[in-house]
Amino acid sequence: MKQRPWIPLFYRSSLMSRTGGRISGLLDVGCGSGFLARFFGRGLLGDGGASRVVGVDISGKSLQAARDEEGERVSVSRRVDYIQADAYHLPFRPSAFGLVTSRTFLMHLTSPEKALREMARVCRRDGFVAPVEPDWGAFSSYTPKESGTKEVSDGEIVLRAEIRGRKKLYGQDPTIGRRLPDLLHRAGLKEITIDGIFEVPMTPCDSRTSRRSLISEDALTLKHLSDRKRTDEYVKVLVAGGLSEAWIRRYLDRRKARLAGRLRQLKSHRSKEGMTSFFAIPFFLAMGKK
Ligand SMILES: C[S@@+](CC[C@H](N)C(=O)[O-])C[C@H]1O[C@@H](n2cnc3c(N)ncnc32)[C@H](O)[C@@H]1O
Repeated sequence: MKQRPWIPLFYRSSLMSRTGGRISGLLDVGCGSGFLARFFGRGLLGDGGASRVVGVDISGKSLQAARDEEGERVSVSRRVDYIQADAYHLPFRPSAFGLVTSRTFLMHLTSPEKALREMARVCRRDGFVAPVEPDWGAFSSYTPKESGTKEVSDGEIVLRAEIRGRKKLYGQDPTIGRRLPDLLHRAGLKEITIDGIFEVPMTPCDSRTSRRSLISEDALTLKHLSDRKRTDEYVKVLVAGGLSEAWIRRYLDRRKARLAGRLRQLKSHRSKEGMTSFFAIPFFLAMGKK
């Protein structure tokens, strides 16, 4: 988060400006390893702020990672509670929280409407429901001509196929960001607002992104692309999205080769000034009042 300090700042300012900082209790649904609960919720705890910050997820493994992140460094009064539960059946009484958030969660569900109705149920009157979701269909990209690569334009084809494939195979909607106001309206919320941020700008020349972070991000992507189980699943989604398996495998091989080349360049301390291709996906934060 160090090289992307605008992300927690964006959440903090958007959520605080709407709620005026008066948040009696926060629930983060589909919290995973605790991104939002930790970066936003922890700051609310203690000193007369929120009485309780809770993260809920269906995955015990993710919750364990979230608890490990809390660690011993955080004082007991500032610790987030993590509870295993299904978002469709939240184990809380009606009106239990002043703010109910979620991030990159609704896009994974077959019935985001149902989850939002449940989030609204546990939100108190005059409290807020605030989901954050990306819109993969609203991405922006640019490749300088002289780079001589088709990587980004092929990346666009792949991303579009992944959107179609996820919808077809799993009923998921990675373009859900643009639907958030309508979904909040359907969940019975009012005074709806929406703000956006480019949370994932893949612009390696960004001088805030250190060479070391780029190396570890690229190395992780390369590891994922070399993981057979992971790539087989990815290929399955892309085939469902309309691409041929042979084309995808060639694309993945090219991508791996380019990534390996970039890693070598980064490790040899050659300048990253020439790395000016741009690829970014917007995230939308919508808020509705109960
Ligand atoms: C992409 S992760 C996002 C995690 C976290 N919100 C973040 O921003 O890093 C989506 C999370 O939703 C959880 N999830 C999926 N279906 C769920 C359900 N029905 N109830 C609760 N959590 C669920 C998954 O276990 C996963 O941790």
